[in-house]
Amino acid sequence: MMGDNNLSRFIRDNTAPVSPSLVPEIRLHLATEVTPLWHATEKNLAQSKLPPPYWAFAWPGGQALARYVLDHKVAVRGKRVVDVGAGSGLAAIAAAMAGACQVTAMEIDPFAVTAVAMNAALNGVAVAVESRDLLAPSPRPSSPLAAAFCADDEALSILVGDMCYERELAHQLMTWLHAAAARGAEILLGDPGRAYLPETGLDLVAKYDVPTSIDLEDRTHRDTAVYRLRN
Ligand SMILES: C[S@@+](CC[C@H](N)C(=O)[O-])C[C@H]1O[C@@H](n2cnc3c(N)ncnc32)[C@H](O)[C@@H]1O
Repeated sequence: MMGDNNLSRFIRDNTAPVSPSLVPEIRLHLATEVTPLWHATEKNLAQSKLPPPYWAFAWPGGQALARYVLDHKVAVRGKRVVDVGAGSGLAAIAAAMAGACQVTAMEIDPFAVTAVAMNAALNGVAVAVESRDLLAPSPRPSSPLAAAFCADDEALSILVGDMCYERELAHQLMTWLHAAAARGAEILLGDPGRAYLPETGLDLVAKYDVPTSIDLEDRTHRDTAVYRLRN
């Protein structure tokens, strides 16, 4: 595995600092059509033993969530915020810019962990990173959340951008989110209609038309929604 310096060098060499189309006020180290990572296929990433570089793209769900938070600062102002599956850290950075009192990005990919730190620095905000897999099933289901984010989940806002793309992951995520909601956390999900988004238990709070790339999404725009998890 690469050390921290090599991770940040890899990110710098393979991305460019750009703004996602829906969130021009934030800059991120992202793959663009002129950076090598954009053209890397899953096969040649696997040959180089690299995980898919989710962190190098601002996914429609994360963009919608960041836009919502920046336009509705009251959703996070003065609160502790956790961005689950933060990727580039876009939603976490938006929450910090909107006045959250403490922001943590949860990520299990070491490249993303480094990318979040680099992107937070690029935007001049503080974002802590939690790299343990808190979504993995645990014998005491509520303990990892309590240990990581204090026993009292009141005034905790959890942001989830584009995480419902795999069946098992979505199942673990929703189990974890419902436990957090039962403890008083408020949960917002940004999603462009991924296959494993739950069909019930979500209230629509906003809709966005997010420009996307044909290479990534097979279309030029995605209707993307922000939902609140009902508890
Ligand atoms: C499609 S990306 C979305 C990134 C970001 N939220 C956005 O919208 O741009 C999903 C991210 O979830 C992360 N992830 C997957 N399983 C996770 C887990 N158990 N805990 C934390 N992050 C996880 C992946 O590493 C990846 O960066």
